[in-house]
Parts: sequence; C-alpha cells; structure tokens
Amino acid sequence: MPEFPFADRLTKLPPYLFAAIDEAKAEVQARGVDIISLGIGDPDMPTPDFIIEALYKAAKKPANHQYPSYIGLPVFRQAVAEWYKGRFDVDLDWESEVVSLIGSKEGIAHFPLAFLNPGDLALVCTPNYPVYPTAVDFAGGEVQFVPLLKENDYLPDLEAIGDDTWRRAKMIFINYPNNPTAAVATEDFYARLVEKAREFETIIASDAAYTELYFDEKDKPLSILQTPGAKEVAIEFHSLSKTYNMTGWRIGMAVGNAKLVEGLGKIKTNVDSGIFQAVQEAGVEALKKGDHYAEQFRKVYKDRRDTVVAGLRKAGIECEEPKASFYVWAKVPGGAPSTEFCKEILQRTGVVVTPGVGFGQPGEGYFRIALTVGGQRLDEAVSRLVENL
Ligand SMILES: Cc1ncc(COP(=O)(O)O)c(C=O)c1O
Repeated sequence: MPEFPFADRLTKLPPYLFAAIDEAKAEVQARGVDIISLGIGDPDMPTPDFIIEALYKAAKKPANHQYPSYIGLPVFRQAVAEWYKGRFDVDLDWESEVVSLIGSKEGIAHFPLAFLNPGDLALVCTPNYPVYPTAVDFAGGEVQFVPLLKENDYLPDLEAIGDDTWRRAKMIFINYPNNPTAAVATEDFYARLVEKAREFETIIASDAAYTELYFDEKDKPLSILQTPGAKEVAIEFHSLSKTYNMTGWRIGMAVGNAKLVEGLGKIKTNVDSGIFQAVQEAGVEALKKGDHYAEQFRKVYKDRRDTVVAGLRKAGIECEEPKASFYVWAKVPGGAPSTEFCKEILQRTGVVVTPGVGFGQPGEGYFRIALTVGGQRLDEAVSRLVENL
C-alpha cells in the first residue's frame, strides 16, 4: 500500500499544544466527571431569530441556489460599507474596498498567498490566534514573532522591532481586541503602527473580529481604518461570527486598501466560490438590524466577566478585568507551567481552561477563560475553581 506522506507544509506544523488538555479531558470524562468547558471561544447563545427568518426567506429564492458571486453580493458589500460608516465613521467603497469571506478565518488563511513570495518575512504578534503563522508558512513566508507583554499592555513594542526587520517585513499581523489576552488597541498605538507601515511599506493585516464585544461605551474598540493614512497600508478582517452569534454560518469580510482587497479576491476566485447567497442576505439583515441584539449579548458577557473576575480574585488569582472580547486572561499562580496547571485544574474540578502557552511562548504563565458558558453552569464552574485553587 502506498504511504502517501504528508507534504512538508503539514509535517512542519507546530505541535498541537492543546493535545495534553484534550487527553486529560478524555480521561476525566471517562471517570464520569461532569465537565464544564470554559475553553472554547464559540458563543453559546443562538443566532437571533430575525436573522434565521431572513435566511429562510432567502433560501426559498431559486436565484440563491446557484453559484454565488466570488467576492460577495453587492447588497452584502454595501451593507458592510454602511456598517463600517455607522460604527466607525470609516468610508469604504463597497466595490473596491470590501470582499466577503467564508468567515474571517478563511480570509486570514488566504491573505498571505496574495502578497508573500517564498522567503518573505511576516511579523506575527504573539500570543496569537494560531492561523496567522500557519497562513504565512503555507505561503512559504518566514514568520518572526513579536511578543505582546503585560508591561506594554499587550501591544507590540514597535521600536524594539528594529529598522532592518521593518525593512524586510512584508506584513504584520495584529489582533485587537486580542485573543487570548483581551487587550485593546489605543488610538496612539494604531497611529504609530500606521506611520511605521507607511515608512517601511509594510502591510498591516488587522484582525478585528471582536470589536463589538465591549463592556462600556467609553471603551468601544477602534478599527485601524479610523487612523489617518491607514487605508494606504491596512486590510482589516472582520466577522459576523462573534457579534451576532453566527460562528456556524461562516460569514465575514475584509475591508480597507483596494489593492490588498483585490489580491485577496483574486486568491479566493481561484480557490472557493463565495458564500451561499441566502447566508449573505441574512448577513445583510444582521448588519442592518442587529445592533440591539449585539447590545444584549454584551450585557450577558459583561455579567459573566464580572462573575469570573470576582471568582478568580477571590481565589487569589491575578487577572485584569477585560474591556473587550469574551476572554479573561489570568496568571497561573505559583509559576507552574500553564499546561500542567490547566491539566491539574481539569483533573481536580472538571473545568476546562486553556493554557496560555498554546497561543505562543509569551503566553506561558497564563491561562485563558472563555465566557461562553452562562447561568448556573458558570456559577458552578467558578465555585469549583474558587474551592480548588
Ligand atoms: C482572533 C480571531 N480571529 C478570527 C477568528 C475567526 O472567526 P470567524 O472565522 O468565525 O470569522 C477567531 C475565532 O475564534 C478569532 O479568535
């Protein structure tokens, strides 16, 4: 029988750092322990009914049963442009500066293929959503990690990167509100980053999937496109997944610099055939009428955040109160390795939390809690942690 060895790009993938946790979970489950997972960043609340109704109506239209437009229906791209205008006061030309995505993950994964040649350097801020370095690697690029440290509020130290590196860097991946640290970007940081990117002709790939999960009007996260000059250098990835509880629907968008959007569109035209148009029409409804629901979801997450932060502090665990995202980033007590600590918590309490090192080396010493469980289950998880930490 032939062996069919995997291509180098697969065998080169970094080890799956959550394997130890998965193993421990299976073991604990086999003991009959009631497991509560605070591990996964997938909203537990359903998609609002009006979006489902819109899908139902749109799915009945035969015209929607055919291949969709590769880069998105005009109505969807127009709705994205209007949403960006309403939310961020950013002007976008829907025809040249907006492309639909099969979830932002798809766009992020494909983007380096459009702008990196083999050996080109990409900077990836870390701890990070794992797709960025993998996407660079798949495109044959070279990854240089830029640490996000607590003392810098988890923003990259742009001066520490050095001019030679900036000169070589074709792109930099940033993500605010950040997964996993929950950090948010400041106006000043975005302005300094855009200045660097313009000086060194570096593409900014900004992942903004969590901008709508904030807890206070005064902390409303920014889009990098609000920064003067950003459109010369930046593309922003966004999504309906987290804002409207639509992770399963696979709908997102990339917006910004027309050349960057065009390049991504060219890749997509060659590898996929767009999003089911009925989903796009439902997405239009979400973008136009979803604000009120997003507001409700924020309230739910805020309550959960308060429960978790209060519980952790009661247990003597250091953590900051996040201003956005649905994650709490907390310090592992006593300096234990994060994977060991999370394994032990799971074995002792049946609660799954994620080791920080799984998101990159600077995440060592931390663990992440996802606020995607609510009500009594969350109370139960928190009291188990408080009793056992
Ligand atoms: C930081 C970040 N970006 C992007 C995504 C992908 O979201 P989607 O593909 O559902 O739009 C996720 C999902 O967890 C994420 O955490």
